This record gives sequence, C-alpha cells and structure tokens, in this order.
Amino acid sequence: MSESGRRAFITGISGQDGSYLAELLLARGYEVHGLIRRASTFNTRRLDSIYRDPHENAPLILHYGDLSDGVSLTNLIRDLQPHEIYHLGAQSHVRVSFDIPDYTAQTTGLGTLRILEAIRASGVQTRFYQASSSEMFGAAPPPQNERTPFHPRSPYGAAKVFAYWITVNFREAYGVFAVNGLLFNHESPRRGETFVTRKISRAVARIQAGLQDKLYLGNLDALRDWGYAPDFVLAMWMMLQQPKADDFVIATGESHTIREFLDLAFGRVGLDWHDYVEVDPRYYRPSEVDHLRGDASKAQRVLGWQPSVRFPELVALMVDADIQLLEDELAGRLVGVDRES
Ligand code: NAP
Ligand code: GDD
Repeated sequence: MSESGRRAFITGISGQDGSYLAELLLARGYEVHGLIRRASTFNTRRLDSIYRDPHENAPLILHYGDLSDGVSLTNLIRDLQPHEIYHLGAQSHVRVSFDIPDYTAQTTGLGTLRILEAIRASGVQTRFYQASSSEMFGAAPPPQNERTPFHPRSPYGAAKVFAYWITVNFREAYGVFAVNGLLFNHESPRRGETFVTRKISRAVARIQAGLQDKLYLGNLDALRDWGYAPDFVLAMWMMLQQPKADDFVIATGESHTIREFLDLAFGRVGLDWHDYVEVDPRYYRPSEVDHLRGDASKAQRVLGWQPSVRFPELVALMVDADIQLLEDELAGRLVGVDRES
C-alpha cells in the first residue's frame, strides 16, 4: 500500500498532462497506475524521470490497454480498485480530428463511456475526472464559463461534448462521483510538437541554431487562453478532493493571438518572426474556433485555484526549454561522434 493509502489510475499517462499529474500524485504519496498503448517504439518518454523498474516495488505501474477495448478496461479497473480515476486519454488534436473523425469519436467520445461503464459494471467505489475541453464552447462568444452553451466546431469538440454529458449522466443516474474539468488550452515544454505553441517554440530554437529557415503555420488570428500545464493538473486533483462532485472551468482569463505568441517567442532570441513565418492553408481547419477566453471565477471561489504562470512567462519558459533541449541533443550527437572516432 502507498504512503497515503490512496491509489490512482490515469488514462493518457504518457501525454503532457498525464506525466505532470503522475508526478503530482507520486509526490503526494499515491500509488499511481497508468494506461499505455502498445507501440512499436517507446512512447513513455515523458515518464522517464519518474519510472522505476517494477521489480523495485515502485509506486508507478504501467498497464497496456486501449480506450477502444472496453473489456480490458473493465478488468483493469475491477482489479486495481482505484480510489481516483483521471481519464485524460484521447485523440486530442483538433485538426487531426477532421481527418479521423470516426476514430476520434471512438476514443475521445466513447472512451469515456467505456470507463464509466467499467466503474458501474465493476461496482468499484471511485472518484472520476473527465478531461473536458474549452473546444466544446467552439463558436460561443467569450468569456466562457460553466453556464455557457456548447457549440463545438470540430469532430474532437463534438466527441468531448458527448463525453461531458455522459459524465453528468452517470453522476445523476448512478450517483458516481464524476466531475468535468473544462480546461482551456494549457502548454509546457512537454506539449506535443504539433500543437501551435510547441511548434513555434521548437522552430525558434532550430532557426536560431541555423537548422531551419521557415516556419509554416495556419490561422494566425485565432485567440486562445493559454495557461501552464502543471497549474492545470493541480486543479484536476483539487476537483476530486471536494465533498461534492461538480464541474469547473479552468483558465487564466486572458486571451492572445498566435501573432502575439510569435512576437514574444521570436523576440526572446532577438528575431522578427515576419522574416521566417509563412502561412500554409493546409493548416487551416474546415471550421475554426475563433476566440476562447475562460472565466474561472467558480474554481477560484470553490477550489481556491488560480494560475501561477502568465502568458509572457509561459512563452519564455517554452522557448528556453526548447533551446536547452536542442543544445543537449546537439551535444549528445557530438559526444556520440567523438565516441565513434
Ligand atoms: P496528449 O499529450 O495528446 O495526450 C493524450 C494521451 O492519450 C496520450 O497518453 C495518448 O497515448 C493517450 N491516448 C490516445 N489515444 C488513446 C487510445 N486509443 N487508448 C489509450 N490511450 C490513448 O494530451 P494532453 O494535452 O495531455 O491532454 C490530456 C487530456 O486533456 C486529453 O483528453 C485532451 O483532449 C484534454 N484537454 C487538453 C487540453 C490542453 O490544452 N492540453 C485542454 C483541454 C482538454 P500516446 O502517448 O500513446 O499517444
Ligand atoms: N496545431 C496548429 N498548427 N495550430 C495552428 C497552426 C499550426 O500550424 N497554425 C495556426 N494554428 C491555430 C489553430 O488553427 C488554432 O486556432 C490555434 O492555433 C491553436 O491550435 P492548437 O495548438 O492545435 O490547439 P487547439 O486550441 O486546437 O486545441 C488544443 O486545446 C484544446 C482546448 O481548447 C488541444 O490541446 C485540445 O486537445 C484541447 O481540448
């Protein structure tokens, strides 16, 4: 049994949020179990710093599974009897969801139902967190809060709306302690490389190092409310510690365009992005979400949550991290060359 006597199960543990959440829970003495997909190459890079050999009685244990496989999810949840389930696994890329809408609905939408059914069928007493998204608000004008009607603009957004309502339904129908965190965009040095912030911060590092000449992007005018991922996973944990299950918007309350992100990111290394960025319409979406800006006053009032990192600091820390990463990679390559010669 863990130090705290508590056991958590995280789907999507190999993703940006899953890795930060696993660190947070381990630091609080939880035994942490995570769902990973079998892949032909390692997909647990973000967990490297916390993973230990299972033979060492480690508090982090990974299990193979997939959100499309309801039977194995039910077996796993029944065997683990977790006190808390954080359901973060999803096909999470909005642009890609237009290319693979059926798969996105299967994993991002029905994946949530499969976990909830696993809880119900196994009779496990657990608290459940659903990774809902500001993308569900879509075309609804800002500021968006818990009472704003949804108007999704992508297969991903529509799948998340289903997942949101099925979570509410299991709370109302079966009394499951099930909560929705409606999280606005949150970023970090661990952000996937094809999301716009990380695409930019990586490009700045590579352009500065002379390894890349151009950065091709899509719509530069969209506005997003960008926060810092470690702040946001803390809010997930806080939601599951409440006496009553409820839904919360988590956001910084500020929105900025992609252009503003570019200004700060290229400005960090003394470059002007206009010299490097070109618009490629293939990154446009068939329908876009123009403006997301969240009102997280309920989370502040009830959970006592507020963001610790603001936009300029976020951009700076992402660019600095990618510059450092590139320097380490280049040094590693040089060390490798030295060893061979
Ligand atoms: P992410 O980095 O893309 O991670 C997604 C995770 O889901 C990965 O661990 C991935 O595994 C896993 N996954 C994907 N398909 C799966 C499947 N079929 N079966 C099992 N696991 C699967 O996403 P994130 O940024 O950490 O976001 C976490 C959650 O919050 C997602 O549900 C996302 O939609 C939602 N969300 C994110 C944001 C944001 O701004 N980051 C905002 C609102 C909501 P692999 O590593 O094997 O690909
Ligand atoms: N990815 C990407 N790539 N986006 C671009 C690009 C580009 O080359 N150029 C412009 N953009 C614009 C997109 O059109 C969008 O308006 C904005 O940048 C942000 O795109 P993403 O970083 O891909 O994030 P997202 O807002 O679509 O989705 C993220 O946030 C959601 C919460 O609102 C994802 O993390 C979702 O999983 C999450 O739910």
